[in-house]
Amino acid sequence: MALKILVTGGTGYIGSHTVVELQQSGYEVIIVDDLSNSEKATVNNIEQITGIRPHFEQFDLTDRNKTHDFFKRNPEIAAIIHFAAAKAVGESVQMPLHYYRNNIVSLMNLLECQIEYQVPNIVFSSSCTVYGQPEVLPVTEQTPRLEPESPYGNTKRISEDILRDTIKANPGLKGIALRYFNPVGAHDSALIGELPRGVPGNLVPFITQTAAGIREELSVFGDDYDTPDGSAIRDFIHVVDLAKAHVVAINRLTGNGNKEAYEVFNLGTGNGVSVLELVHTFRKVTGVDLKFKIVGRRAGDIEKIWADTSYANEELGWKAEKTLEETLLSAWNWEKNIRGIQ
Ligand code: NAD
Ligand code: WQD
Repeated sequence: MALKILVTGGTGYIGSHTVVELQQSGYEVIIVDDLSNSEKATVNNIEQITGIRPHFEQFDLTDRNKTHDFFKRNPEIAAIIHFAAAKAVGESVQMPLHYYRNNIVSLMNLLECQIEYQVPNIVFSSSCTVYGQPEVLPVTEQTPRLEPESPYGNTKRISEDILRDTIKANPGLKGIALRYFNPVGAHDSALIGELPRGVPGNLVPFITQTAAGIREELSVFGDDYDTPDGSAIRDFIHVVDLAKAHVVAINRLTGNGNKEAYEVFNLGTGNGVSVLELVHTFRKVTGVDLKFKIVGRRAGDIEKIWADTSYANEELGWKAEKTLEETLLSAWNWEKNIRGIQ
């Protein structure tokens, strides 16, 4: 019988791609999402890709009673992948209490239910934001976490600690925290992808919206960094590669292949790419004459970061496979599909 996996935030960007990979690997999926940053229609699109409709329940995971009630009604969950969180860095500076409450209370409710209803396994969405600007690059899982730059970043750091301490105190629990670098791109079908609300804060959605004529021109934030072309450097990972790593993490936990009860992995490509390099690659692969201008640095940005992925590669037997070209083309195909551009 197929193992049942609860995917919180499963109608969201990374969650929806992970649901597809889980279903295609033979898992049965139940999504819980409050639709605060996603659309119910994503469930139809997942079904269109895989031929299997995931179960879906809409509620807010900060609601303790509803969360308990859900676990009472679903006694056979083998593992949780916890994506549900608010994720806009700038907004978190304006609304810290919302971020602390939403991101931390939801995790605490889930962990409490795991103990009470004996759900042994959890995979948690963490972020490279916990490293801040590291002194030594690339970053390994042992690179010290720095003082977070935003309330959002702090929720990830605190959540990692809550997870680690709760697992330590409860021998029945096991967990994996995955620190994502910069997830971009969309499923090859162009049926699911990132759906930013309002003006995108992230680079690739801003680029694809500019290419689609929705935004006038891209502002490149800073060309005076200490990098070869002066623009900032990130590790952009295709969302499908990222989604596949979650299936590996679930296999590891449910198959008791983990070495420690609590483990942490970096999920990136291992390659640092500058903002200008990404812009030029986008222009080359799509043929779109993307307008951009150089402006000043964005407050709070770090200069450069990319992952050392050797631990994830060796220990999980997982590696990001997609090229930057494929990744950017998939992001553009998704944008064209949702805008009806041929
Ligand atoms: P997303 O906003 O697309 O997905 C998150 C989903 O969670 C949304 O569908 C939202 O409606 C839901 N949600 C939020 N709060 C909820 C709550 N209290 N109860 C129920 N559902 C709730 O974001 P994403 O990009 O798919 O990110 C998924 C996870 O990965 C998040 O935890 C995010 O912090 C983390 N992460 C994202 C990135 C990135 O750049 N996208 C990078 C590192 C880490
Ligand atoms: C990438 C680069 C910008 C927009 C954020 C979060 C991080 C993680 C991933 C969740 C930067 C530049 C951007 C634009 C630009 N999320 N840029 N023009 O800031 O690396 O990371 O998302 O955990 O926590 O902070 O991603 O896509 O916003 O920016 O020049 O219009 O592109 O300055 O150098 P970032 P990003």
